[in-house]
Amino acid sequence: MGGFDFTKRGSFGSRLGVLAAAAGSAVGLGNIWRFPYVTGENGGGAFILVYLVIVFAIGIPVMMSELVIGRRSRRNPVGAFRILAPNKPWYWVGVMGIAGAFMIMAFYTVVAGWTLEYLYQTVIGGFQGRDSDALKQMFEGFRGESLRPALWFAVFLLATSGIVWGGVRKGIENSSKIMMPLLFILLIILCIKSLTLPGSSKGLVFLFSPDFSKITGTTVLMALGQAFFSLSIGMGTLITYGSYIPKDNNLALTSVQVSMVDLLVAILAGVAIFPAVFAFDISPKSGEALTFVVLPGIFNQMTGGMIFSFAFFTLLAIAALTSTVSVLEVIVAYLSEQLDLSRRMAIIISTAAIFIVGGATSLSSGMFKGIKLFGLNIFDLFNFTTANILLPLGGLFLVAFLGWFFPQKHTKDELSNGGTISIGYYRFFIITIKFIAPAAIALVFLNGLGII
Ligand code: PFF
Repeated sequence: MGGFDFTKRGSFGSRLGVLAAAAGSAVGLGNIWRFPYVTGENGGGAFILVYLVIVFAIGIPVMMSELVIGRRSRRNPVGAFRILAPNKPWYWVGVMGIAGAFMIMAFYTVVAGWTLEYLYQTVIGGFQGRDSDALKQMFEGFRGESLRPALWFAVFLLATSGIVWGGVRKGIENSSKIMMPLLFILLIILCIKSLTLPGSSKGLVFLFSPDFSKITGTTVLMALGQAFFSLSIGMGTLITYGSYIPKDNNLALTSVQVSMVDLLVAILAGVAIFPAVFAFDISPKSGEALTFVVLPGIFNQMTGGMIFSFAFFTLLAIAALTSTVSVLEVIVAYLSEQLDLSRRMAIIISTAAIFIVGGATSLSSGMFKGIKLFGLNIFDLFNFTTANILLPLGGLFLVAFLGWFFPQKHTKDELSNGGTISIGYYRFFIITIKFIAPAAIALVFLNGLGII
């Protein structure tokens, strides 16, 4: 066998394409489905405040580190460490990322499948005339079924594989450039509607007035996990995307832009959802059902609500798709570059493997309800362990690698594009990745897990 031909790797075509693809990975169900319910379960405003601090102090530096490692090495997460730190065990960070990618695909694609069911329900008028209790029952009833959620999951997985099959530029980049702006416009319309519901101001108070007594070790761990999950960091996704970024891209600027877009979409989702949560008297602690109950409730009250509902679930599905594509790309890049499979074979094998694990995850509220580990079913286990354990741990190793092990002249070279752009922030960046980020992650992590 001739081995993988690295001169034939894919690449992104333009600055806008890089931003669309990276923001496409970051913005997804994490912002619109996960962020609101995790915020609801962890005290609202106080949680958001902690979240903001974490995005700026830890999220952006970790994202920059990943892009540096990716673009410097031009490899998948395992290959990147193998080439930047030959004969050292750092590549295990990449291996951990690949494992995380499987777990995220398994539960995330299941939720993405739910958006397709909701699209279908919109078309057949399934929400109409239902109050919030009935909508909640509808959601739980659907989740508890075996066949339908699994079928939607399979459809979504195939769509993801189809795009990855199309390649980096034609598949990933082009689809992101169209859908991301549309999602944004639609969210703003929903915010306006939600804010004009009677009693909506309580939602804003919940979101934006922090009650500091609510901040505990667990809150901070959940905020850390949410930030990593939402920004797609800690797992090598941005090493992989970084490896496709052209040499003249300003990596720091890209990281800030992606993080700000991601943050904005999460806050907008909060503003679209919480006023309605309080207006309809739903518990903010409704967990994974939150978005799927509240939004159909708003659509029911809007003139032309079904049109908005259709547009919204379509775009949510597409936001999810630009994220699942990025996760699958991590696995495919790894399999094709490290194990010397053709790209197509890599896609077929990974899709089949995800189909099995994700299928089991999909059944975890139905047929497999009884299967539990540490008191969590398969779905909750993957959701919790990826965001709160694997990704922060991955992030810790990533910054430690760049801060302490990798020669700084290469990092400087990568961030300054060979000395052609100024990097006034550099000292601050190094201090952050050497000391602040690793210490903060370690502390939050141990404290949140009850170890200290
Ligand atoms: N960031 C995505 C979201 O918020 O929906 C999810 C995700 C994508 C997580 C890629 C991790 C990842 F590597």
